[in-house]
Amino acid sequence: LGNGLATTPQMGWNSWNFFRCNIDENVIKETADALITTGLAKLGYNYVNLDDCWSEPDRNSEGKMVPDSKAFPSGVKALADYVHSKGLKLGIYSDAGLYTCQIRPGSLKHEYDDAALFASWGIDYLKYDNCFNMGIEPEERYPPMRDALNSTGRTIFYSLCEWGVHDPALWAGKIGNSWRTTDDIEDTWESMTTIADINNKWAAYAGPDPDMLEVGNGGMTYQEYRAHFSIWALMKAPLVIGCDVRNMTAETYEILTNEEVIAVNQDPLGVQGRKVDTYGPDGCYQIWAGPLTEQRTVVAFWNRCSKPATITANWGAIDSILLPVSPLKIYGSAQVDAHACEMYILTPVIARSAT
Ligand code: GLA
Repeated sequence: LGNGLATTPQMGWNSWNFFRCNIDENVIKETADALITTGLAKLGYNYVNLDDCWSEPDRNSEGKMVPDSKAFPSGVKALADYVHSKGLKLGIYSDAGLYTCQIRPGSLKHEYDDAALFASWGIDYLKYDNCFNMGIEPEERYPPMRDALNSTGRTIFYSLCEWGVHDPALWAGKIGNSWRTTDDIEDTWESMTTIADINNKWAAYAGPDPDMLEVGNGGMTYQEYRAHFSIWALMKAPLVIGCDVRNMTAETYEILTNEEVIAVNQDPLGVQGRKVDTYGPDGCYQIWAGPLTEQRTVVAFWNRCSKPATITANWGAIDSILLPVSPLKIYGSAQVDAHACEMYILTPVIARSAT
């Protein structure tokens, strides 16, 4: 979508994975504060995104959406002003159907009114979900909101949450800034690995969203969260934090603030890395790789087996895709703990001839 956004994957925070419907304006303000004080904002985590349950169950007598009066008594505009005063951006959530998944008003057939309302509040990002869609094709339901957002004159990031139902990678590039390729992530190793594999199918298309990060929510080990973050970064997934950033452990903080991994995600080449080789029991020794600027290559050795292992990458087998400049066959190995992922960046060294 040519609105100037998402030249690299979006970064920020979203309320759903940790808070579900237990959100209010204090939680959001404290989260904005925490993004600043922890230094996460400086690293690029700039969007503060409300998910479902921010609104009252019904529109008002003028047909407008209304913020939940108990949770957001000061309204969304005041919240946007607060978030903007911190140098951050505010995101909101709606649905390309009759209702949201938690049965709040959806925007189907209200696209222009709702987009105008969001713009008047100073909203910078819209996540647009797929519940209660009346069986109408997503290809029909998602463009009207794009046009409505464009008509507001405000630049608003448009995140399609279509769950990969109709293979949005094939058609959503002109409609949204990013598109969900999978069902909802859960805070488990099983869910995270499954989602990585589904998203991997769409490696040829920039913009896929394998859903938000679970890092820090407690359901996976340190190594599993590290792998989750590394693979999301390599796949050029949005880095949208889904934990309570007001109360992060040192390990969570270390993972989310790894500047080298963030730089892989935000590399301006913007080509999605992918799974290039698997071997071992059930293919659980995996090599994921992708090209970066300056002819560099990111390579991740991912041990999805339950015991530590030495994983070997045969660059020769993959160099036609990733290392077109290298005719050499090179082998590299890494010692990788169970469920861990070790990431490297290969930098070409230009041989200089003696003069
Ligand atoms: C759907 C989405 C989730 C979240 C919930 C909220 O399940 O896929 O990411 O937004 O709705 O109800």
